[in-house]
Amino acid sequence: MGSLTKPLILVVVIYLLLKFVVPNIPGSAPLPSSLIFLYLMLTVAGIVIYYTMSGESKDAFWGPIQRFLTGENIGALQTARYAVLILFPLLVGWQTYGSTAVSDAPPPENRTIHPAPPGEYTGLSNPVAKTPDNIMQGKGFYAAFCSPCHGGNFDGKGPAARGFNPPPANFSDPTTIAMLQESYLFWRIKKGGVGLPIEGMPWKSAMPRWEVELPDEWIWKIILGEYDGAHQSPRTWE
Ligand code: HEC
Repeated sequence: MGSLTKPLILVVVIYLLLKFVVPNIPGSAPLPSSLIFLYLMLTVAGIVIYYTMSGESKDAFWGPIQRFLTGENIGALQTARYAVLILFPLLVGWQTYGSTAVSDAPPPENRTIHPAPPGEYTGLSNPVAKTPDNIMQGKGFYAAFCSPCHGGNFDGKGPAARGFNPPPANFSDPTTIAMLQESYLFWRIKKGGVGLPIEGMPWKSAMPRWEVELPDEWIWKIILGEYDGAHQSPRTWE
């Protein structure tokens, strides 16, 4: 096998370079394994071309491979041959099965949580004055219509919340209504999950569309009550 040692060492060295040295060069990232595989294939092809250029080197290169596969040897090498002859097809089969079998893993979801509202909603300001009475009334409406999902404590943990994915928004979390303008909430409450635009895919939101049930004035009051109850303030551009 003497003449095969050099090309084998070359392949191993190139693999180690690609796998461990290249990613450590400043400014580069680990290479994807498919790319490493491609480079190794190119290396092997180059080696084969090199060794088959002259008759002499060709014999030196293929000879050991041929002797190994055609079985002029006995003992340990014979066992190794059977192992290779059995394992190689199994490996190829396993690899092919793995890459073509239908997977039961769900496809990744890239849901945009806060898609842009339609133009007519941007910049609307709350026409209802922020008086204790209005806030109180808004909290009453909230308790009746919203708390089953969004929770009596505005934390998204209402009694009906558990079955929903995506879960009902947690208004006390600073990444929900505290990041949003009142006009944005007005839109989301009016149009609900079914009113989400394309980026809001896959449209599995259980958020109801309230525009038929609740007059605009109630919705604005609920918004006041929601911010007050969750101890958050709406985002403004000032
Ligand atoms: C059936 C359960 C359910 C009810 C009832 C419900 N919601 Fe929702 N709501 C959700 C779910 C689920 C989401 C998260 C998915 C989404 O953004 O559509 C959500 C999201 C929201 C959002 C968006 C928050 C954000 O960060 O984008 C607002 C605002 C909201 N709800 C307000 C209300 C108000 C106000 C009421 C009552 C009038 C209400 N919801 C009633 C389920 C519900």
